[in-house]
Amino acid sequence: VPAERVDAVARAVLRGVHQAIREHDVTYPEFQAAKQWLMDVGEGGEWPLFLDVFVEHVVEEVAARSQDGTKGSIQGPYYLPDQETLPWQTKLPMRPDEKGEPLVFAGQVRDLDGTPVAGAELDIWHADDDGYYSGFAPDIPAGNLRGVVVSDGQGRFEITTVQPAPYQIPTDGPTGKLIAAAAWHAWRPAHLHLMVRAPGHRTITTQLYFQGGEWLDSDVAEATKPELVLDPGPREDGRLGVTYDFVLERA
Ligand code: DHB
Ligand code: FE
Repeated sequence: VPAERVDAVARAVLRGVHQAIREHDVTYPEFQAAKQWLMDVGEGGEWPLFLDVFVEHVVEEVAARSQDGTKGSIQGPYYLPDQETLPWQTKLPMRPDEKGEPLVFAGQVRDLDGTPVAGAELDIWHADDDGYYSGFAPDIPAGNLRGVVVSDGQGRFEITTVQPAPYQIPTDGPTGKLIAAAAWHAWRPAHLHLMVRAPGHRTITTQLYFQGGEWLDSDVAEATKPELVLDPGPREDGRLGVTYDFVLERA
């Protein structure tokens, strides 16, 4: 990053902090408490979590200014690369007794002209029925509710999974302590994470939410968009299903 840019952005950040101190007559004890809290976030390994919840949505908002096609959303801290590659019609890896309502998530990947994108990778990951992610919670097998689904010759995919539950930021760490101390809530609405990639196209990172879901209007991470809300209904086979088509820009 060029020095002029570091200078400009770092100075703006510091100006914001200085202004908050003046505006609120911040005292020495409060400054010491803030210092300790910042160190605790580092020691607790919670910087990725904190930054993805409270800051990433604005970075995404700026990136979105130059992006057409499917709306993006934040990546969040729980993406893991190199998951199992799966065919276009598939069930995500899950435990034999995986809890949660089965959900069939289907659709098509197209470019801006409407041409189907064959061989697109839909890298999907989501929380389980308790709101926990594999790889970040004990007792969940590696790769659970994660996978890289490859679209067929017509750009189609049909993924069977289970409905995720809303996610609560861990309340026992420093981020949770801040939320409690400020009397905010710690919840994100239930969501699917997706990264959709195809050669020659701009990768889209997004999240899909569920109509009527709790916390949809007060996401702590401010990462919802009206275009990203799914409204599943019963399929002919009785299972819950929903379709959503992804539109990619050419790179
Ligand atoms: C966080 C968790 C998520 O599942 C998400 O999508 C975004 C942020 C978090 O805890 O920081
Ligand atoms: Fe998430």
